[in-house]
Amino acid sequence: MKILGIETSCDECATAVVEDGVKVLAETVSSQVRIHAQFGGVVPEIASRQHLETIIPVIDETLKKAHLSLEQVDAVAVTNRPGLIGALLVGLSAAKGLAMAANKPIIPVHHIQAHIYASIMMEKEIKWPIAALIVSGGHTSLYRLDSILKMERLGATQDDAAGEAFDKVSSILGLGYPGGPAIQKAAEGEKKGSIPFPHSYPGGDKLNFSFSGLKTAVLYHCRGNPGSSKTPEYDPENPDHIRDVAASFQAAVADVLVKRTKQAADRCGAKAIALGGGVGANGLLRERLKQMADQSGFHAYLTPPGMATDNAVMVAGLAYHLYGAGERGDLETDAYPR
Ligand code: KG4
Ligand code: ZN
Repeated sequence: MKILGIETSCDECATAVVEDGVKVLAETVSSQVRIHAQFGGVVPEIASRQHLETIIPVIDETLKKAHLSLEQVDAVAVTNRPGLIGALLVGLSAAKGLAMAANKPIIPVHHIQAHIYASIMMEKEIKWPIAALIVSGGHTSLYRLDSILKMERLGATQDDAAGEAFDKVSSILGLGYPGGPAIQKAAEGEKKGSIPFPHSYPGGDKLNFSFSGLKTAVLYHCRGNPGSSKTPEYDPENPDHIRDVAASFQAAVADVLVKRTKQAADRCGAKAIALGGGVGANGLLRERLKQMADQSGFHAYLTPPGMATDNAVMVAGLAYHLYGAGERGDLETDAYPR
């Protein structure tokens, strides 16, 4: 079964054709990063306008690369939640138009579930249950997975997502947008970060996260605490200072994410852990999670870095399983920001 997937929940306009949930026949990702970089983050209105311009060419390009006409596709899958509402609506409207024109079923897809699917999509034999960590620009959550479609949320961020913290800290350090890859690059080197930034584990029984305190700690370290007369030692022109903040911040985020994932896995009696979402491309996080999994005897399903950021392969892939479970959308299907 060949499914055309459409993903426009944020600033990537992506399409793909995936056969039977695993075989990628073609994919296209049109990134708006350069457009949003000048504003230091994604501007929702600009994202939707840009999607409007690119969606049809991006669909055409994928079908062309797959050597398929729309008629030869069996269904159209589309991310309809969560995400930027205007951006989601562009993809959803395109999907409805195509489905109506070619008389194909529509399969609405949950973006986070698709990120989780990306982590196990290429695995031959999957061990359940899985404790899955999804870390992106908009989300930081832990899930228990008992099968591809059966998931339960164990905790989530109460304020900023980890990716958002990367983006904001990058902006404080003058490293540009998107912040994740910029901070990872700035933190490279033998020396570990020396700044003891705070680690937060809120939630009592819930495995929640909070990154706003960490972000503020970085801000005060670099610009000074408004409540104190002490001048910061940080020099924005000194590459060693920038590197130290980037490395210390990145390590603090990785510490929290790894510790929480271990707690989730222990609580679930998990056989494996999984990692997905844009921040899942982070080298240090991957290394530390793998290390923890090896030490604790968990399998580690880490989404390949190229599949961790937003794409439509994960959407078309997951849709195959949703279709099998009877999930269908129609022209009344709506988009939801949460
Ligand atoms: O999943 P994604 O592409 O879009 C959302 O659904 O949000 O994630 C984008 C986020 C951005 O915040 C970006 O800075 C972060 O993922 N990111 C990274 C890395 N690559 C992308 N964060 C840390 N390290 C990276 N290498
Ligand atoms: Zn995402």
